[in-house]
Amino acid sequence: MQAGMARSPVVVLGAGGRTGAACVSRLEELGKDVRAVVRDPAKYADTLGGKKGVEVVAGDVADVQSLRGALKGASGVIFAASGTGYWSAKGVDYQGVANVADVLKEQGGSQPVVLVSSCLVSPHNRWHPIRIMLNNFRWSLMDYKYKGEEVLRKSGLPYTVVRPGGLTDDPAGQAQLVVSQGDKSTGRVARADVAAVAVAALSDSAARGVTLELTSKPAEAAGGSPPPLAQQLKGLFAGLRADAA
Ligand SMILES: NC(=O)c1ccc[n+]([C@@H]2O[C@H](COP(=O)([O-])OP(=O)(O)OC[C@H]3O[C@@H](n4cnc5c(N)ncnc54)[C@H](OP(=O)(O)O)[C@@H]3O)[C@@H](O)[C@H]2O)c1
Repeated sequence: MQAGMARSPVVVLGAGGRTGAACVSRLEELGKDVRAVVRDPAKYADTLGGKKGVEVVAGDVADVQSLRGALKGASGVIFAASGTGYWSAKGVDYQGVANVADVLKEQGGSQPVVLVSSCLVSPHNRWHPIRIMLNNFRWSLMDYKYKGEEVLRKSGLPYTVVRPGGLTDDPAGQAQLVVSQGDKSTGRVARADVAAVAVAALSDSAARGVTLELTSKPAEAAGGSPPPLAQQLKGLFAGLRADAA
């Protein structure tokens, strides 16, 4: 362990991405120690590096050895990485999740893992036009994202899979959050709200072993201002069905 490294931080993988960075900000807001894992720390020294309680560490979900260091001593893990190249989904969205699960098991981990996935990944949506488009946007992206989910569901680790709808860069807490299961819905949701839900899932036992879709209703459609975010997060996972073992 390097001097100054927090002993049991929350580890955010893909912390330089837009949802990853929102997770880091949310954790910072809550006063948590964070290990922000990115492929090139120099790229994020001025942004993530400037945050209180945040250490920026090199790590690549495709590189098991780098994950051993990045995940060591984690109190919780948020996987917010996603492949950036056309052929990258297999290595990042699928194998990357498998690598993380393997390393956590190797380290005897019992910490919660939250995977940021996507609405419409389920095979029963295979003919949905948006799913087809996304599978073509990055080669088999949705197929590999689903395979990544499956690895986590079968890993024996305490997990939550959060499947957001179309992501926006709106601020957190502006809309009414809508949670569902069964991968039958689509909609939009702010990355900042996804981050708040991912962070909340780490510490809520009702989120354990659960796969959920997350969208939102804008204030106008919800008939006025939504309840404050903290209130919305309280009990958000209550009553959700755990995945079949
Ligand atoms: N866009 C949408 O509307 C939408 C809708 C539903 C779900 N989603 C899903 O939500 C998640 C977050 O999306 P986003 O748009 O916020 O993310 P994003 O900005 O595209 O960030 C993804 C991050 O993953 C990192 N990454 C790529 N390969 C990696 C590797 N091998 N190891 C570690 N990190 C790696 C990249 O980091 P570098 O800085 O190193 O390049 C990048 O910053 C993704 O899984 C996405 O598929 C997106």
